[in-house]
Amino acid sequence: MKKITLADKNFRLFIDSSSLNQAITILAERINKDYSERAPLFVCVLNGSFIFATELIKLFKHNCEVSFVKVSSYEGVSSKGTVKELIGLNENLSDKDIIIVEDIVDTGATVSAVTQNISKLNPRSIEVATMLFKPEAYNNEITIKYKALDVGNEFLVGFGLDYNGLGRNLNEIYIID
Ligand code: IMP
Ligand code: MG
Repeated sequence: MKKITLADKNFRLFIDSSSLNQAITILAERINKDYSERAPLFVCVLNGSFIFATELIKLFKHNCEVSFVKVSSYEGVSSKGTVKELIGLNENLSDKDIIIVEDIVDTGATVSAVTQNISKLNPRSIEVATMLFKPEAYNNEITIKYKALDVGNEFLVGFGLDYNGLGRNLNEIYIID
């Protein structure tokens, strides 16, 4: 079993790269079908979504636009429960179909705040696409239409996800040991 150490914590391999890529490919196929006649604007939530967003958007076969926003709600291994303001998107979106791209949806506080902020810009539609979803932790109203994989409540790193800034470069997902 592959093991790694990031600062003071040990992690073991949880989702290998072929399983992850397969799940992302299946998700991309759904989005390709649903958006074959609309050019979506992918709004990628930095920093965590950068690798998933790259892989997902490379698999999107129709016209699309891509933008990035930044928000932060996590420090260490537990949610602070507060979500800061959204940076990076100010224009009117009235003719846009938005797909918010997240690395992981945990309680849903972050994605709900991002959704509310984007709603104020009057887009035609908003959906959420996340690489990982924690169903047991989720306690929000908004529907997460596109999820690549469901996971448990354990803390994960890799493929964009970090532990205090480390581990984003890992090509698979690791779970805390
Ligand atoms: P939420 O607001 O509780 O849904 O948390 C979402 C944000 O917390 C994600 O965008 C991640 O940045 C971070 N997060 C949640 N769970 C994990 C995890 O297991 N590992 C690393 N970051 C996480
Ligand atoms: Mg994030």
